[in-house]
Amino acid sequence: MKILKAKDYDGMSRIAANIISAQVILKDNCVLGLATGSSPVGVYQRLIELCANGELDFSRVVTVNLDEYRGLPVTNEQSYRYFMNDNLFNHINIKPENTNVPNGTAPDPAAECARYENLIHALGGIDLQLLGIGNNGHIGFNEPSDAFDCDTHCVDLTESTIEANKRFFSNADEVPRQAYTMGMKAIMQARRIVMVVSGAAKAEIVKAAVCGPITPRVPASILQLHKDVTLVGDEAALSLL
Ligand code: GLP
Repeated sequence: MKILKAKDYDGMSRIAANIISAQVILKDNCVLGLATGSSPVGVYQRLIELCANGELDFSRVVTVNLDEYRGLPVTNEQSYRYFMNDNLFNHINIKPENTNVPNGTAPDPAAECARYENLIHALGGIDLQLLGIGNNGHIGFNEPSDAFDCDTHCVDLTESTIEANKRFFSNADEVPRQAYTMGMKAIMQARRIVMVVSGAAKAEIVKAAVCGPITPRVPASILQLHKDVTLVGDEAALSLL
């Protein structure tokens, strides 16, 4: 694992955006795996700037997002589709039909999981996967559990994730209890992984994921087995490494 330390959130965002930018320049029709949460917002802002300056062209790029809340329609501001449109897709020259997020309102969850899994496979997998990390070590919405889940699945969110994510909703009761998430297979088969981490609150879990045992109780620890992971963090998040 490569570890790149930036001074602050802005520095972290610039480094991660530069890596993604290099990927898009080297392969203009690449498949980018994208993430939500507050950690990648600065990365997306930088990518928007690069695109506006004419330095980056997303016209042939395809994206697949990690996850989506079950039950939220795309019009809900807390849905991850809304987040992606608002924070990135609406501001770059990507074709809307080339952006993929699990459908939170799909009537048949099993069918939606199979559709998403087949889609990733049909695209030939992911060239570069951007990740954040949850307070409990989750990646996407792969929550701590007894075993790593391979394929796209519908997951019951843990109390700690509901607690952490309630800040985006008017109260904890509004947070959906389930979500669709890409499984570990598609993430681990991504040819390159970039994880962004920021803030002192993430320092303990980052240490557990990078230096602790590989266990489904800390889902991000599986990244220790991937051959091309770059962890980009600010000083606070990397302070315990
Ligand atoms: C959500 C997302 C994750 C993300 C995590 C951390 O739960 N499903 O993909 O990594 O939040 O978010 P933040 O970056 O806001 O700490």
